[in-house]
Amino acid sequence: MTEEAPAAPTPSDGTPMIRMADVQKHFGDLHVLRDINLEVARGQVVVVLGPSGSGKSTLCRAINRLEPIDSGTIEVDGRPLPAEGKDLARLRADVGMVFQSFNLFAHKTILENVTLAPLKVRRTPKADAEKRALELLERVGITNQRDKYPAQLSGGQQQRAAIARALAMRPKVMLFDEPTSALDPEMVQEVLDVMTGLAKEGMTMLVVTHEMGFARRAAHRVVFMADGEIVEDAKPDTFFTAPRSERAKDFLGKILTH
Ligand SMILES: Nc1ncnc2c1ncn2[C@@H]1O[C@H](COP(=O)(O)OP(=O)(O)OP(=O)(O)O)[C@@H](O)[C@H]1O
Ligand SMILES: [Mg+2]
Repeated sequence: MTEEAPAAPTPSDGTPMIRMADVQKHFGDLHVLRDINLEVARGQVVVVLGPSGSGKSTLCRAINRLEPIDSGTIEVDGRPLPAEGKDLARLRADVGMVFQSFNLFAHKTILENVTLAPLKVRRTPKADAEKRALELLERVGITNQRDKYPAQLSGGQQQRAAIARALAMRPKVMLFDEPTSALDPEMVQEVLDVMTGLAKEGMTMLVVTHEMGFARRAAHRVVFMADGEIVEDAKPDTFFTAPRSERAKDFLGKILTH
């Protein structure tokens, strides 16, 4: 764990890659996103922390419009989230998402999983889609698994395939929702290594994770949520050594001692 935290990126212009302003979201009576204001600059890596039920997954899903919001604004690269249709498909292509469960297509090979969306959504010619897919499989270290089906891979390999699949669409932003939580401990690092590599290359990333080592090493910012609110937004070092709120202190006390 000697890697340096990446240098803070300089945005090429003032437009944040992700912008959420005054976002509210309820599930029935439950207020799950409370007045969320969050900007993520181009190339920035933000780790989202918080207790179970604090709204981290809902926040991620809102950015991809997998969850509609009640009010407020969400923009990706300066454009408001489209409601539906072709524009929504384009947004989903721009915002890659990796979940805890790998969500690969079980009846397609790893190579087919990675080429599917470029072929169908981007209408990329097959040879180009395969060339790009093989580059990505190489990059995540699973080229030799290309003709296997997901169930024939380890959890770590499946999650790396899921990352390659998201990258195949050349997204502007990658959202990760607890990408290593379902993995056996020995497979966590291989996935974090791929994510750290992406961060270093300047991908804009929003990452929900309990991997504090990753947060310290790779994140530019830590956002701490509780009860649907952003309670703290700080540099990792500041957050871990000097959290301001009682809720963050309590949370850190629990995760650092368990
Ligand atoms: N589809 C839904 N319908 C109703 N309530 C929901 C729905 N999805 C989430 N919730 C509730 O919204 C709140 C926030 O959930 P969310 O999944 O965003 O939390 P989280 O911070 O990701 O938690 P965890 O760490 O357990 O993944 C929780 O109280 C949850 O029960
Ligand atoms: Mg969650």
